[in-house]
Amino acid sequence: MKILGIESSCDDTAAAVVEDGVRILSNVVSSQDDLHRRFGGIVPEIACRAHIENVLPVVQQAADDAHLGFDAMDAVAVTTQPGLIGALLIGLTAAKAASWALEKPLIAVNHLEAHIYGAWLSGRAPTLPAVSLVVSGGHTSLFLTTDILSHKRIGATTDDAAGEAFDKVANVLKLGFPGGPAIERAARGGNSGAVRLPRAWMDRDTLDFSFSGVKTAVLYHCLGQNASKHEIEEAQYSPEFVADVAASFQEAIVDVLVQKTCAAAEKTGAVGIIMGGGVGANSVLRERMGDEARARGLDLTLTPPQLCRDNAAIVAGLGFHLYTAGRMADLRVEATP
Ligand code: KG4
Ligand code: ZN
Repeated sequence: MKILGIESSCDDTAAAVVEDGVRILSNVVSSQDDLHRRFGGIVPEIACRAHIENVLPVVQQAADDAHLGFDAMDAVAVTTQPGLIGALLIGLTAAKAASWALEKPLIAVNHLEAHIYGAWLSGRAPTLPAVSLVVSGGHTSLFLTTDILSHKRIGATTDDAAGEAFDKVANVLKLGFPGGPAIERAARGGNSGAVRLPRAWMDRDTLDFSFSGVKTAVLYHCLGQNASKHEIEEAQYSPEFVADVAASFQEAIVDVLVQKTCAAAEKTGAVGIIMGGGVGANSVLRERMGDEARARGLDLTLTPPQLCRDNAAIVAGLGFHLYTAGRMADLRVEATP
């Protein structure tokens, strides 16, 4: 069974064809990084305009790369929530049009559940029940996953998402956008113990996160407490300074993500851990989560690095399971931010 997936929840326009939930026949992502770079973050209006221009060529490319005509698709799966409302509507409208024109079922996919499904594209099924960490530019959330289609939210960030903190710190350090990969690269030559940064464990009992404090601590370390926007823009740092701050910041974020996720497994009695979302591509995070999971006897399943960032293969893959469970949507389904 071949599912056409469409994803436009944030700043990537993506389409993919996946067979039987696991065989990726095509996976096309049109990244908007170049459009948002000079703003240091995603500008929703710019994202929406680019989605409108990109969505049909990207869907066509996904069919071409899979060497299939649209009539060969068995269903159309699309991200309907959560995300930027204008951005979601563009992918959803394209998917509704395709579903109606092709007379194929429409499947509504939750973006966070699609990121969790990334683990099933690793080549082996995760051990369940698992605690699933979705860590991206828009989200840092923990779920208790009891089944491929059953996820209960047990924690979330109370302020910035981890990826957002990476992007903002990269802005301060002038490392460019998106910040995550740039910080990871810069941190390679740095000393992760060079700068003492806070870890927001918050109340021991909570599985929620907070990342705005560490972001502000980096800013204060670089420029003091009263830096103007102009001073932040004009500041210059040595490569050694940048490497040490990047490594220390990355370490602080990784510490919290790893410890909270493993604590969540202990608290819920989960035997597995799943990780997905853009920040889940970070190799230090992947390694440290692996070490900690092993030490605690938890079975870790990581989303393959190339499927951590937003893409439609995770949407089409999860769409297959929703389809076989009979969970189809109809043309009245709405986008939810
Ligand atoms: O999943 P994603 O593509 O979009 C959202 O759903 O938000 O995640 C994008 C986020 C950005 O904040 C980016 O800086 C971060 O993922 N990211 C990383 C890495 N690669 C991407 N963060 C840390 N290390 C990375 N290697
Ligand atoms: Zn995402």
